[in-house]
Formats: sequence, structure tokens, C-alpha cells
Amino acid sequence: TEIDIDAEDLDLGGYPHYMAKEIQEQPESVERIIRGRLDDRFGVARLDGLNLTPRELRGFARVKILGCGSAYYVGQIGATMIEELARIPSDAEAASEFRYRNPIIEADTLYIAVSQSGETIDTAFAVEEIKRKGGRVVGLVNVVGSTIARACEGGVYLHAGPEIAVASTKALTNMAVGFALIALALGRVRDLSNADGQRIIDAVRALPGQIKAILDFEPEIAEHAKTVAAAKSLFFVGRVRGYPVAREGAQKFKEISYRHAEAYQTSELKHGPLALIDESLPTVAVVPSDELTERNLAAVQQIKARGGAVLAVTHADVDFGELEVPRIIVPKTEPELDPILLTIPLQLLAYHAALTLGYDIDKPRNLAKSVTVE
Ligand code: G6P
Repeated sequence: TEIDIDAEDLDLGGYPHYMAKEIQEQPESVERIIRGRLDDRFGVARLDGLNLTPRELRGFARVKILGCGSAYYVGQIGATMIEELARIPSDAEAASEFRYRNPIIEADTLYIAVSQSGETIDTAFAVEEIKRKGGRVVGLVNVVGSTIARACEGGVYLHAGPEIAVASTKALTNMAVGFALIALALGRVRDLSNADGQRIIDAVRALPGQIKAILDFEPEIAEHAKTVAAAKSLFFVGRVRGYPVAREGAQKFKEISYRHAEAYQTSELKHGPLALIDESLPTVAVVPSDELTERNLAAVQQIKARGGAVLAVTHADVDFGELEVPRIIVPKTEPELDPILLTIPLQLLAYHAALTLGYDIDKPRNLAKSVTVE
């Protein structure tokens, strides 16, 4: 008998889509970005590729992160981590905007360009603009030897492996882990103690196992996806650490399920968007167990009071009390690293919503894996 298999099926390794395969690969791809980079003796990350001496690392007064699309949202996750762990003012900006607004480039700012492909033209131009004005720019890039990787003066390779699906998953997760490593490097030449560095290192080491645990909940997440896919429009909300998670969750949802998904800071709901909440507009709420839990729960209560359905991405110890809220439980890591794990179920939520709706998951309409032309 003849067996009919084509090359693509083999590459898919038995998965129905590249996105499914790449989501499942995350425990191993995270192992790859951390391999050889954790220094237990000094509670720090070893990032020789950055080409920055401790004195240079110590000299930066600010961090500016540039990327496009999902890479920009992960950049926001990174900025929060760096601010928390290294206490350096940090922010992320869409490279597509930065390159066109005559940005002020400062000698004591560390610029970080983030890109899976290393070929996104907006990000590549941002790098050139920084260099032309004498700024110091390093890359957080997946594809070795790519345009952006070569243009940067140093960097951290993601080692996520090839990513085929347009909607980025494993590369994004490695970007977030990469930012944790950079935050350690910047923090440990400042006020982050050896013990605190070690606390983060231990947490980073536990991530692959925790990601595996989240992936085990795929059948439950698929059920939630069926419910949310029925809505024409939905909100994703989170605050501080959770806000970029919500933005990335909404982005993924839009990209592959073609549903209107909008992200807001949970804190901003009462300043406007709450007016839109009713039975037809469900909200995916990021509610980690942290110093903002009570405030997040109060917002969930306000949404429920207006008839809005809520699906929470949360930790096991968050007490929803009387609130009837379906939950996706994510394992707890150190608070600074929570966004890394909170993002994972939102990949599965988008994937299964698109699957339910019958769309082309790996090649969504109107989108390219990397935008290399103007
Ligand atoms: C495109 C894709 C996005 C991706 C962005 C950045 O717009 O549709 O999914 O996040 O490019 O790609 P990069 O390769 O620079 O990470």
C-alpha cells in the first residue's frame, strides 16, 4: 500500500497547524533561550552577546524598546520587567511610529530592537535611525544573521527555532523570557540583590514545566474559546503587568479569528468603555494574584453588574467570592514574571476560536509573517 504524505505534513509533525505545533514546542524553546545563560553563583544572567561591559550596563539611565505588532506588545511586557527588576525608566514604542517622528536619541539610553524575523522594515529603519544619531542599540531577535541582528551592536538570540505560523507564539514567549534575562543583567549592576537575582533565576528555570502544565489545560481552554468565539466583539482587560498581556491577547484574537477584540487597561474601563458593556460584549480579564487583585475583582464585579460575561485568566489563589466567573488557571511564578505565563492561554484561546470559526489559522487574510516592504 502507498502512504500519501507530503512534505508539509512531515514538517507539521502530526499537528493540524504550525501554530498548534509552535504552541506545543514552547517548553523546549524556553529551555533553549535560557541554556547556559543562568549564573547561580551571582544570581545574574550571562549575556555575552550584548557586548556591554558592567560599567556600560550601569551607565544607562533609560531603556527604550522598539518592535512591531506582537513584538511591540512583548516589548511593553519587557519594559515593565526592566523597571521592576532594574528600576530603570523603560518603555516600549511601535517601531513603525518611532522611525517617522524624528525621535530624540540619547547617549545614556539603551535601545532594544525586538523582532522574530529580524527583517521587519519598520524595526530595521528604527535601528538605523538610532545608529545614525549615535545611540546604542542591541537586538532581541530570533533569526540568526538576519538584517536587524546584523545591524545591532550586540544582542540576545531567542533560539526559538523556525516559526512558520503568522501569529507568533514561541518566539514571543522567548522574547518575554529574554527580557527577564536582560532585566537581571541590568538589575544586578544596580540594586537588585544576589538573593533577588537568584529568586528570579529559580523562577525562570521553572517556566518550561509550568508552560507544560498550562498546555495540559488545552481541552478546557478550547471549550472557553467556543463560547467567546460566538461574540462579534470582545474586550481584553488587564492592568500594569497584565495590560500588555491583554493587548497581545486581543491582537492574537483579531489576527486569526477576525473578531473585533479591543484591549483596555482595567483601570480605564470606568472612564469610558464600560458604557459598551452588555450581554453581547464579553470580557477576557487578566486577574493575577498580586497587589492589584482586589481592584481587578472590583472591575470584574462592575462588568458583571452590567450583564457582561467575564472569562478570567487568573491564579488558583484568587478568590472570586460570589462572582460567577469561568476561569483559566495559570501557575504562579514570581510576580515580575507573571506576564510570561499569563500570555500562554490567550494563544490557545485565539487558536481554538479560529478553529471553531473555520479560518485559515497559519495564514490569516491580509497578513504577512514579516512585513519587509513599505
Ligand atoms: C507582522 C506580523 C506580526 C508580527 C510583526 C513583527 O506584522 O503580522 O504578527 O508581530 O510583523 O514581526 P517580527 O518578525 O519583527 O517580530
